[in-house]
Amino acid sequence: MAKAIRILILIFVWVKYSQANDFPSLLVANATVGVIIDHEYLGEEYEKTFEKMKEIIERVIREDLKGAGLNIKYYSWSKINFNKDFTAIFSIASCTSTWEIFEHVQRERLLLMAITDPDCPRLPLHEALTIPRIKIGVELPQIILDIRTSHLVNWKTATILYDDIFDRDTISRVANALSVESASLAMSISLLKLNSSTDVYERRENIKKSLLSFPIRNVGSNFLVIATIPMTIIEVATEMNMINTGSQWMFLISNPRKTNVSQLMTYVKEGGNVAIASNNTIINGSCSMGEDCLYHELFKNFAMSLSKLVREEEAIYSQISDEEWESIRLSKRERRDSMLEFIKERLREEQLCKPCVNWKFESIETWGLRFDMSESGKLKPFKPVSTYTAVWEPTNGFIHYDKIYPHIAHGFRNRSVPIAIYHNPPWQIVSYNDAGQVTGMRGVTVNILKELADKLNFTYLVHNVERNVNRSGYSFWDDFNVTADDDIKSTFNLPVDILELVTDNMVLFGAVGLTVHETYEKMINYTYPISVQAYGMMIPRPKELSRLYLFLSPFTLETWLCLSFTIALIGPLFYAVHYLSPYHEHHQITKKGGLFKVQNCFWYMYGALLQQGGMYLPRSDSGRIIVGTWWMVVLVVVAIYCGNLVAFLTFPKMEISVNSISQLVKSQEQGGFTWSIRSNTFLESFLKETDIEKYVKLNESTENHEIVSKSTISRVRSGKHIIIDWETNLLHIMRKEYLETDKCEFTLIFLCIFSGNEKFLDEKIGLILPANSPYLNIINDEIYRMLQMGFINRWLSEYLPKKDRCTSKISSMEIENHTVNLADMQGCFLVLIAGIIAAIFIIMIECCCRRYRVLDDKKLIKPFVK
Ligand SMILES: *[C@@H]1O[C@H](CO)[C@@H](O)[C@H](O)[C@H]1NC(C)=O
Ligand SMILES: *[C@@H]1O[C@H](CO)[C@@H](O)[C@H](O)[C@H]1NC(C)=O
Ligand SMILES: *[C@@H]1O[C@H](CO)[C@@H](O)[C@H](O)[C@H]1NC(C)=O
Ligand SMILES: *[C@@H]1O[C@H](CO)[C@@H](O)[C@H](O)[C@H]1NC(C)=O
Ligand SMILES: *[C@@H]1O[C@H](CO)[C@@H](O)[C@H](O)[C@H]1NC(C)=O
Ligand SMILES: *[C@@H]1O[C@H](CO)[C@@H](O)[C@H](O)[C@H]1NC(C)=O
Repeated sequence: MAKAIRILILIFVWVKYSQANDFPSLLVANATVGVIIDHEYLGEEYEKTFEKMKEIIERVIREDLKGAGLNIKYYSWSKINFNKDFTAIFSIASCTSTWEIFEHVQRERLLLMAITDPDCPRLPLHEALTIPRIKIGVELPQIILDIRTSHLVNWKTATILYDDIFDRDTISRVANALSVESASLAMSISLLKLNSSTDVYERRENIKKSLLSFPIRNVGSNFLVIATIPMTIIEVATEMNMINTGSQWMFLISNPRKTNVSQLMTYVKEGGNVAIASNNTIINGSCSMGEDCLYHELFKNFAMSLSKLVREEEAIYSQISDEEWESIRLSKRERRDSMLEFIKERLREEQLCKPCVNWKFESIETWGLRFDMSESGKLKPFKPVSTYTAVWEPTNGFIHYDKIYPHIAHGFRNRSVPIAIYHNPPWQIVSYNDAGQVTGMRGVTVNILKELADKLNFTYLVHNVERNVNRSGYSFWDDFNVTADDDIKSTFNLPVDILELVTDNMVLFGAVGLTVHETYEKMINYTYPISVQAYGMMIPRPKELSRLYLFLSPFTLETWLCLSFTIALIGPLFYAVHYLSPYHEHHQITKKGGLFKVQNCFWYMYGALLQQGGMYLPRSDSGRIIVGTWWMVVLVVVAIYCGNLVAFLTFPKMEISVNSISQLVKSQEQGGFTWSIRSNTFLESFLKETDIEKYVKLNESTENHEIVSKSTISRVRSGKHIIIDWETNLLHIMRKEYLETDKCEFTLIFLCIFSGNEKFLDEKIGLILPANSPYLNIINDEIYRMLQMGFINRWLSEYLPKKDRCTSKISSMEIENHTVNLADMQGCFLVLIAGIIAAIFIIMIECCCRRYRVLDDKKLIKPFVK
């Protein structure tokens, strides 16, 4: 295997090496040019063309070729095998033949200059030169084809909207041009014919209908409009809001005298991506359209590039040795590329035979234009600006100076846009200096803002809004270096100044987190939610139950009672069976002592329960069966007890507490907990409006606090109060209390999806944009991307309190290895003590009895003694 690979590599290297250097240098051999003039293609014109070609080439060799020789070989057919002696090929052939020739030429890395049919896809721009023989007035199919093949636009799909402008012939040519298969044609195109009735109203309605029924979702939103009356189309498209940040439109205007381009522009709204191409063809004497001129220019340029190459090679060769020369001289590909580049540049810069056909491309800039300040310091009214970005002509195809769609390529083009922000931790943390100017910003929305600015290519100016903080209360932002008067803030209300900035469309967007709710939904637009805040309850940490009665806990009270009852019953039962059995009579055993005493039976059964053997066993089978089954009961009971006891040792039992809203409401009926929520929050407004029973009940007896105060927290600590708030806020409070007291006194109950069977409301937080902002979609796309990449979650978690002892306890509840301690054992000692006390007590009773009996006996005996 390794051997085979090594051989393969060797072959590869050899092939590469031989290709690189196994061709004659221009210094030792004259360049050879193959001239293909396809007889079949040209037909009757062949003779004439051939003669002309010969003449032109001779002239060029005479006049323009300096310091080099040139061998010319003529062919009148296109199926030729080119060997390595050729330098360049010049061909006049049909489209299909041209591509065939290209394939051959490609293998030898020769320069191909092809003159071919119109509507022929150009050969790869960096490997060959293609010049279609275009006639005035029929260039549209070629333009569409060139848009497809060039990298002018990066469309994967395009829709051509056209009307009667195309006659049937042109449509079929366009369709043909589109159906050509080639690797470089990576764009799929659909055609949509619009009805162009003469009646203006009817035309509008028709266009509307066609556009409405058009499956944009499937065919993308890139449109190429070629129509007699583009004005109506752009009007309708604007009205239908189809010209937006996500779509790209190109209008091809073949008769600019009939269509006022600057009027067309006025329809473009903010955010639109529109390019306008207009027919710039001007027919006058100065354009020489002749093909002779073109052939001559092409050859001349080739000769000049060859001369230049030879000159350069000579200059280098004279300075170095042969070996060095062999290693540094141009490879075949480099030679081809340098000649091609030279010829193309000459055609672009100093074209002599200008074909008159010429189209001009203008791009319209719209994004963020409105935010350029005028001199008076106010925002300008929106007015699209057009820039000249590309030109198309048959010889060179597209030449572009800038991006056709500047905003698709460069977003806001580094424009400076105003944004609104205010201090509201943790979403946005803004610091101000004494003069009230913003000196620094942090927070989640600020991170999003920075990322947006980076991706959409804009810089931002912060609108200075006075901080309006005058509440004071519980602050947990000390961790984050935020000054003390910043308590838990609400994302439910927006400061009026900020709201005005956004509703007046003075800013691109507000980098502020705001709860999505109806009040504002009519005035502004929200972005995709950057976060969904879930609510939680802060409850006093449930305490572990005392372990004194741990030994009792494996069984419930009923079980214990049953068990005692059974023991009490089984003794006498056993006694009865044993006593009544005729076995003893039969064997003449005296019924005395042992199991013939009821208390012995009882103790025997009790001992069996504790797995202690007895002295006697019953002899009768009936008695034995009772004992046997009892042993089985004992086995089961003991096994269950032991197993359960271990479990109770390992998982300490907690105090019962609430863990859902329904429980909370229920507990309140029994005089359990009280609770409070913050006023001015989404939760409060939700509770006021809801009609779900448990929430109505929750609302009825809730306490609304402006802020979370210290006294509320100590109420929670003392055990009968609960705070309902955002989980994050509660985590902050718990963290702060922990740092202060170094004790874990609270527990957070998540009220979201995690709380088992009930889903509490979730609060969506989004950034805000002016109503109907054209940029909503692009900003949403970016935010969605950030969410998917997990950026926003990471930024959010930066503002969550650090994990501590308490948080980790919540999750793992001490499942570490538990060694049995005195607290666990105290119960059994207690039993022992109780047993001893009972024994002492009984001893006393026994003594008393004894003494009484003795006295009694004496009394009884006395008369007999006398
Ligand atoms: C190269 O061409 C020149 C004239 O075009 C000719 O004089 C010369 O002999 C040719 N050299 C070779 C090696 O063919
Ligand atoms: C472009 O304009 C020229 C001159 O006005 C005209 O002859 C030609 O037909 C136009 N091209 C198209 C495709 O309409
Ligand atoms: C084109 O439209 C603009 C604005 O709509 C107008 O000022 C201009 O005069 C128009 N030009 C022509 C040639 O109609
Ligand atoms: C931002 O826009 C400027 C101006 O158009 C452009 O030069 C630059 O390349 C753009 N930057 C990015 C990252 O697209
Ligand atoms: C708070 O700011 C001080 C000084 O400005 C700095 O030393 C400290 O590290 C900051 N603390 C945090 C948590 O950022
Ligand atoms: C944006 O706000 C406007 C006005 O309130 C509303 O009509 C429109 O539906 C909103 N757009 C979105 C995408 O929510």
